[in-house]
Amino acid sequence: MENKTILVTGGTAGIGLETAKTLAVQGSTVIVTGRDEEKLRRVSTQSGIQAFRCDSGNPADITALAEQLKQADITLDGLVLNAGVFFPQPIGEISADDIKHTFAINAAGPLLTLQSLLPLLKNPASVVMVSSVVLDKTWPSTVVYTASKAALEAIASVASVELAGRGIRINTVRPGVTLTEIQAKAGMSEDDIAALAEGLSSTPLGRALVADDLVPAITFLLSDGSLPMRNAVMTVDGGVRL
Ligand SMILES: NC(=O)c1ccc[n+]([C@@H]2O[C@H](COP(=O)([O-])OP(=O)(O)OC[C@H]3O[C@@H](n4cnc5c(N)ncnc54)[C@H](OP(=O)(O)O)[C@@H]3O)[C@@H](O)[C@H]2O)c1
Repeated sequence: MENKTILVTGGTAGIGLETAKTLAVQGSTVIVTGRDEEKLRRVSTQSGIQAFRCDSGNPADITALAEQLKQADITLDGLVLNAGVFFPQPIGEISADDIKHTFAINAAGPLLTLQSLLPLLKNPASVVMVSSVVLDKTWPSTVVYTASKAALEAIASVASVELAGRGIRINTVRPGVTLTEIQAKAGMSEDDIAALAEGLSSTPLGRALVADDLVPAITFLLSDGSLPMRNAVMTVDGGVRL
């Protein structure tokens, strides 16, 4: 891909990390955000990647990130709003705080990040939302997560219209089940994860996705080749919804 400056939120693990590494190898200047200082330090040792601590669920962190980038005279060709969390729970067990926490990171965080980084986005610029296949296929115990991703996609559609005049395009990738840290963070045991992977052998792809499988769709949406695409949704799920 052309040499660009791209910021990836949640770029210290999983899909965000693989995207950041690929972009850097392709010659882009890459900025990642994350929460864990140790992970941030590890990522920033990779050439072409700068790492900033920013909790996507914390508006003050987001404002501070924008200020740091502005002070460093950084402007952006692309923004991947990827940071996200998944905590499966049956409806009967969800608390108001659970809803608030997931929405703060998966929906409000991306919107506030887009808002804060708006002055730094070039014309043209590409924003990629990382949503989920849960909007194509329904699983129980995912209501909070699914609602948060529906909110994220609603943000993408309104912003696509509202920011078009600034040369900003917004498109979405919906990953299917991808083996990353997210399953362990969700409280799944190794056996649970192995059973999940085994269950995916009956999909058209015949296996679970890995983070690398998502990278081509995301990098395409960041590239000039996607210039005419507005509020497009690319589902990369190995056919699990079929
Ligand atoms: N894996 C799947 O099956 C799947 C399927 C559909 C959609 N997705 C979506 O894909 C995106 C990436 O998921 P993944 O599977 O790559 O997960 P992952 O391996 O857990 O990586 C998530 C990344 O986001 C960061 N992050 C989480 N909460 C954050 C916060 N509040 N502020 C800043 N950074 C934060 C994580 O940092 P820490 O490690 O420090 O928490 C990590 O760098 C998410 O939006 C997820 O909803 C994943």
